[in-house]
Amino acid sequence: MTGAGGPRAVLIGTMGAGKTTVGRLLAERLGVGFADTDELIEAQHGKTVQDIFVEDGEATFRALERAAVARALDESDGVLSLGGGAVLDPSTQALLAAHRVVFLRVGLADAVKRVGLGSGRPLLLGNVRARVKQLLDERAPVYAGLARITVDTDGREPAEIAAEIVTAL
Ligand code: S3P
Repeated sequence: MTGAGGPRAVLIGTMGAGKTTVGRLLAERLGVGFADTDELIEAQHGKTVQDIFVEDGEATFRALERAAVARALDESDGVLSLGGGAVLDPSTQALLAAHRVVFLRVGLADAVKRVGLGSGRPLLLGNVRARVKQLLDERAPVYAGLARITVDTDGREPAEIAAEIVTAL
């Protein structure tokens, strides 16, 4: 989907990378719609991501996420932001090869600052800093491997990051 169809940009990166904030701004600048897979899942199932994790378990959430991402990649012609763990799924990775994937890179300090005390994210229960560090260590190479464009976000304002992506697309 590198031609006319498909999302204009697919944002990946860990929690606290700014995918949702930057994605909304980027969509505004490009004059297209914005979708976030967590929000799509919540709307479709009438439950928060946190409640799905707690009541149904992470495996159920990942299955719902895989389906939501596949559908959104197929239907979106705007900016799409993926949940931080969505890219760990092999079938999602295969689909992403055909898309304009933008990795929003963030270091530990900024990621922890942005997620605050976890803001309801189930994977961050417990020690937020240690959990964010673990997720960053595990996933940064995956994000980097999937991305066509990588943008550093540390210490930068969302509008500046969105402007850099517009130039790079
Ligand atoms: C997750 C990230 C969250 C959400 C869920 C799991 C992850 O999305 O999908 O809590 O595995 O990194 P954000 O990256 O938008 O916070």
